[in-house]
Amino acid sequence: MRIRTENQADYAQVHQVNFAAFGNREDEAKLVERIRETSYFVPELSIVAEEDGVIIGHILLSKADVVDGEQHYEVLALAPVAVDPNHQKQGVGKQLIHEALQRGKELGYAIVLLIGHPTYYPKFGFQPARSYGLELKQFEVSDDVFMVCELQENALKRIKGELIYPSAFFG
Ligand SMILES: CC(C)(COP(=O)(O)OP(=O)(O)OC[C@H]1O[C@@H](n2cnc3c(N)ncnc32)[C@H](O)[C@@H]1OP(=O)(O)O)[C@@H](O)C(=O)NCCC(=O)NCCS
Repeated sequence: MRIRTENQADYAQVHQVNFAAFGNREDEAKLVERIRETSYFVPELSIVAEEDGVIIGHILLSKADVVDGEQHYEVLALAPVAVDPNHQKQGVGKQLIHEALQRGKELGYAIVLLIGHPTYYPKFGFQPARSYGLELKQFEVSDDVFMVCELQENALKRIKGELIYPSAFFG
């Protein structure tokens, strides 16, 4: 299996992987397509897992803002991550997440936020975000599913405020 940056030729297969992973619904596949059209898209942070020339997994980290009064911080949001149902529970998701976090760090981003399974993400370093003074109001979610991962040391001491997902997240 190979983990690499997504390119334009992958778009149809990436759509299919997201569609299948999320129970044959298009919401996440379309989210990826909307984000790609915006300035919040970072091409190096759209990453695929490929096996025998076929895309079996995909992850997208894209830019978002944390706003604290006059202060604005450019952060990353993880959404979505998807592994083809026939290839789940074999470590593909884990490798995609590790690679995405490593790249985000190398690109200099301070934190990554997400809404996700509270039992899945802590092993990658995600912790409940509200306990660090981060807030989310656009989606009504419980404290355990709104999570943050620090990419640069002490970033969570410095960055507080409300996460604002870009309009691409709202169809
Ligand atoms: C979530 C998803 C991306 C994980 O990918 P994957 O390749 O199946 O996961 P991995 O095999 O890398 O699993 C890594 C670890 O997480 C565990 N795990 C996998 N899915 C899990 C889940 N839904 N909840 C809790 N733990 C999970 C695995 O058992 C494994 O544990 P280990 O490291 O102790 O062995 C994949 O299952 C998927 O596409 N799901 C449907 C779409 C989805 O829900 N995306 C996430 C939205 S928040």
